[in-house]
Amino acid sequence: MSQELDLNFIRKQFPAFSQAENRKWAFFENAGGSYMAKQVIDKFTDYISHKRVQPYSPYSMSAQAGQAMDLSYQRLAELHNVDSSEIILGPSTSMNTFILASAFAKDLQKGDEIIVSNQEHEANAGSWWRLADYGIVVKEWQIDRKTGLLDIAELDNLLSDKTKLVCFTHCSNIAAAINDVKTITNKAHTFGAQVVVDGVSYAPHQIIDFKDLNVDYYLYSLYKTYGPHLGLLYAKRESLEKIANRGHFFNADKLRYKLDPAGPNHAAIAAASGVVDYYEAVYNHHFNSDASAPSKAKKLNQLFNSQEEKVAKIIIDYLLSNKDIQLIGPQTHDTSKRAPTISFRHKNMSSAKITAALTKQYIATNNGHFYAYRLIKALGIDLEDGIVRLSASHYSSVEDAKKASLALESIFGS
Ligand SMILES: Cc1ncc(COP(=O)(O)O)c(C=O)c1O
Repeated sequence: MSQELDLNFIRKQFPAFSQAENRKWAFFENAGGSYMAKQVIDKFTDYISHKRVQPYSPYSMSAQAGQAMDLSYQRLAELHNVDSSEIILGPSTSMNTFILASAFAKDLQKGDEIIVSNQEHEANAGSWWRLADYGIVVKEWQIDRKTGLLDIAELDNLLSDKTKLVCFTHCSNIAAAINDVKTITNKAHTFGAQVVVDGVSYAPHQIIDFKDLNVDYYLYSLYKTYGPHLGLLYAKRESLEKIANRGHFFNADKLRYKLDPAGPNHAAIAAASGVVDYYEAVYNHHFNSDASAPSKAKKLNQLFNSQEEKVAKIIIDYLLSNKDIQLIGPQTHDTSKRAPTISFRHKNMSSAKITAALTKQYIATNNGHFYAYRLIKALGIDLEDGIVRLSASHYSSVEDAKKASLALESIFGS
């Protein structure tokens, strides 16, 4: 029998679950931002209490501050099976794509082509579309308007010898479908193009092996993976060596600084290794054999996904049973096909009204386009009202899912 996630243990790692106010709520806004693990909070508190000075000077507090930051780069790199020089920790994913696109604006030539999907959160769309201002041809890889899904055959029609970049999401924050990153990346590479993958909605559900995916650039947001408010950008070493420097000119030979012009948030970076500490605590609690980082990640992913699947099944089963409800994305709870990010709308009731009714029953959720503006527009859904989104995480409980499903039943009938 496969191992089950010990939810009691998991929830004890998140101080939010012990707060009286939070306990009233079934929390389903995880795709917006997750609760923070205590390992992260402890490291953040330690940094701002004892080490909050300019890091990397020789005096002890400063040296320790620098060590705490270095540790985060190193441990996150190990987690993702890459080198620490390939990890950039910027303010957010939106800011990281903005800077990356500004580097490509310098490197690309007039007439070069890039492909951008319309399944994206705007963070991985707007900055790329603006490259059109520099004479770069932007082609849209469009979703199927009925299902919200991307079809790789459509990409085949867009790729050409002029393609330099393909920008797409690993998993949409609305449609939730898991795109086949390896196949798409292989196709792009065949044409000599690079890929930029937005993993913000995937990373909270899977610890990702960047080397195995063989991507050029991959982004996600640590505040959605139980960590501090930062965006992680993985840039493959060969790509980072070639890309235009967007940092201070005298730092051009320091790889990471090329795409980190802002001067990073030291305390948040120091706290980021707490995410890896959290994963390690979960691993050690459930397994008693040591293993390589990738095989630990594999086991944790299985644990997390089996819990997420149980939770998603309860909500999705209800939504699929109601013929007046449209579930966006894959019509299944299977976590190999979708994230437990559940978006839907009702034929006869606005999403705002549904949100209000769910909120009354202490289901923490919201409605709207969630910045996946182009996707919601392509689906023909009202942009203001959008969809209702119930997004789970591995710490979501079956009880919370039942509470959500009962609340939906009370609103729409069984
Ligand atoms: C899929 C996806 N991509 C990108 C972003 C933007 O991330 P950030 O808030 O770090 O800029 C979000 C934020 O919700 C998202 O859901």
